[in-house]
Amino acid sequence: MAKIRFGVIGCGGMGTAHLEYLAKMRNAAPTAVCDIIEDRAVEAGETFDAKAFVDHHDLLDSGLVDAVLIATPHYDHPPIAIDAFERGLHVISEKPLGVTLSPVDKMLDAAKKSGCVFSVMYQNRARGHIRKAKKMIDDGTVGEIIRVYYLAPCYRSQAYWESDPWRGRWATEGGGVLVNQAPHYTDLLYHLCGQPSEVLGRWGCRIHNIEVEDQAEALLTWPNGATGYYATAVNESPTLSYMRIVGDRGILEIRGRDLFFARNKEGASLRDWTLNATSKWGSPGGDFEEVEPYKDRMAGHKAITHNTVKAINGEADLIAPGDEGINQVEISCAIFLSGDKGKPVTLPVDRDEYDKLMKKLIRQAEGRKKKTRKVKDGGVELFE
Ligand SMILES: NC(=O)c1ccc[n+]([C@@H]2O[C@H](COP(=O)([O-])OP(=O)(O)OC[C@H]3O[C@@H](n4cnc5c(N)ncnc54)[C@H](O)[C@@H]3O)[C@@H](O)[C@H]2O)c1
Repeated sequence: MAKIRFGVIGCGGMGTAHLEYLAKMRNAAPTAVCDIIEDRAVEAGETFDAKAFVDHHDLLDSGLVDAVLIATPHYDHPPIAIDAFERGLHVISEKPLGVTLSPVDKMLDAAKKSGCVFSVMYQNRARGHIRKAKKMIDDGTVGEIIRVYYLAPCYRSQAYWESDPWRGRWATEGGGVLVNQAPHYTDLLYHLCGQPSEVLGRWGCRIHNIEVEDQAEALLTWPNGATGYYATAVNESPTLSYMRIVGDRGILEIRGRDLFFARNKEGASLRDWTLNATSKWGSPGGDFEEVEPYKDRMAGHKAITHNTVKAINGEADLIAPGDEGINQVEISCAIFLSGDKGKPVTLPVDRDEYDKLMKKLIRQAEGRKKKTRKVKDGGVELFE
């Protein structure tokens, strides 16, 4: 079968990482690259034997690609994806799908009309421990979700935010941790626990010198009455990723990349046991046991690209379908909006209200100087 020809748009840290594995794939190849910084486009073209463009329209019209992988800063994901769908090209968008919801709605409409394959780069969904956790939730092992605790911090220095002019600004990045690092976490929250219906959020900048937030947290409510707490930050080191899903049949914990399950004694229902027990001090909970994750067949970003190629060839369902990517954007926008209003926000988020908030944040930051800093280490974190 012919290789799927990819155009990579945005040849910075992440675009280059995509090009490196694409160049070695059996069923795909990078045939075109694009960056608005001409030197970057030319260098990537020479390195990966692909035709270089500085305008994505020219790449899309070149006839050289079947699919594009968009690795530009966030605001450009929806317009570039729409241009690709209108030309009948398949799309993988880097996370997040977008910053505000109105352009993402249009992106999803264009994808649907085109009938093309559309993926979003949520590579953690492909990890063995996440696939196993999802299976245990979907097959009823965990039972109806009662409560969720999710601590999902990471770390970025001031130098990170100053390493590129677009980072750390409302006008060019659209937010901080909630739009750049945390989308991986909120996507998993949605993927494993479903979409919350209400969010009470709080966010702010605690220790960095940036316009945007370096920490955020939220109280969540799901349609079935389940509740949860979620916290994320880029100002914590060392980090700990911890999710505890309290189900009616037991408690599932994801500690880093390890999975643990405490099954209720004799498979009891937490609700039934609690309401019907004759013991005053007894409890239904069993002991935590480590759960063997599924094997990581293919790790990282390559897993999503490989899966998308298989979907284009009609050989697989998508691991991270593009239209599911909007759920993460909804959660981030709900936290921002709720934090600004000081009140809970229901999902789906009011598009006009959110657009107004973003305009206000951009306006308030106008005139603020952005420092840039040359950093000694480039590239991207290969996100876990
Ligand atoms: N999935 C992951 O684990 C992961 C990790 C890191 C970054 N990302 C995502 O990848 C994207 C890029 O991040 P990065 O760290 O590589 O940024 P970067 O600044 O290193 O690279 C972005 C590149 O896009 C180019 N660009 C900007 N606008 C363009 C346009 N309209 N057309 C063509 N090129 C354009 C820039 O010149 C730059 O070279 C972001 O969405 C980010 O969130 C994802």
